Amino acid sequence: MIIPGSASQGLAGELAAELGEPLVQAGYESFADGEILASIPAFEGDRATIVAATTTNETHIELLQLQDAARVAGASEIITVIPYMGYARQDRPFKYGQPISARAVARAISTGCDRVFVVNPHEDNVCDFFDVPATTIDASPRLAAPLPPDLDDPLFLSPDAGAIELAETVRDAYGRGATDYFEKNRDYDTGEIEITPSAANVAGRDVVLVDDIIATGSTMSASIEELHGRGVARVYVTCVHPMLASTARTKLTAAGVEAVYGTDTLERSVSAVSAGPMVAEALEPVLAER
Ligand code: R5P
Repeated sequence: MIIPGSASQGLAGELAAELGEPLVQAGYESFADGEILASIPAFEGDRATIVAATTTNETHIELLQLQDAARVAGASEIITVIPYMGYARQDRPFKYGQPISARAVARAISTGCDRVFVVNPHEDNVCDFFDVPATTIDASPRLAAPLPPDLDDPLFLSPDAGAIELAETVRDAYGRGATDYFEKNRDYDTGEIEITPSAANVAGRDVVLVDDIIATGSTMSASIEELHGRGVARVYVTCVHPMLASTARTKLTAAGVEAVYGTDTLERSVSAVSAGPMVAEALEPVLAER
C-alpha cells in the first residue's frame, strides 16, 4: 500500500502503478490555529510505503502524522520514501550556536518508520543521520528522457565539481556527448555566484547543465550567462529537484535558457519526468524480501 504525502501525490501514483500496489487516498486538513491533520483510510495488509517530500515545515509534520496513522492502523512495517528532503542542506552548523537541522529532522522521521529512502539528497551522508536503515536513490538517469534527440555535439556540464557524476549519468542515459564541470564560488553574504569556466570549447555546441537542485536559480543563471558569453548554441537546464524558489524561473529565462526540466520529486510545471521508475527499482528487492 502506497500512502502519498500532499506534496508527492503524482509521484506516489506513479510508484503505485510501477509496483502494482494499491494507492491510498490520504486526507490533509488544516485548522484555523495553523495546526494540520493528515489521515488515512482503513487498509489491507500490514506494510505501508509512505511517499512524502518534506518541502515545507507543514509537510514535515504531515509525514510524521502519516507514519503514526499507519502504525495506529496496524502497519507492522513502514517504509518512508522522501523524494525531496527539506533541511538536508543544513547538514552542519555553519556558525556557532546553529543546529544540524538535517540530523534533527532525520531523527524525528526515524521514530515513525522502519526504513528510509531519500532521492538524491545534497550529500549522501545525510543518511547517517537516520536511526533506521537509510538509502539514497538516484533519479538522475530519468533526466535524459525529455531532452531533444538532435542535440548538436552535446556537452553535459555540471555547475560545480560536486555534480559531475550527475552530468555523467545523464550523458550515459542520453547515449552520447562529453562531460565537464565549472568551478563555483558562492558569496554567502550577498548570495552572488562566481563561476570559473572550464577549458571546454562550447562555441556552437548544445550544452546541458545538470545539477541536483535549482533553488534560487543563481547557480544555473550564472552558468547560462557564462556559456552565452562563450558562444554556446542552445543551453538546456536539467535537475532532479526543480525547487525553483521565488524568481528562479524568471532568472533562467532572462539568462537565455532553451528549456528547463526536472523530475516530480518536487511537483512543478517543469517536472517533465517521474522519478517513479527509479524509486520502484530501489524498493522492489526490499518489498520482495517478505
Ligand atoms: C549546491 O552545491 C547545489 O548542488 C546547487 O548547485 C545549489 O543548491 C543551487 O542553488 P541555487 O539555485 O540557489 O543557486
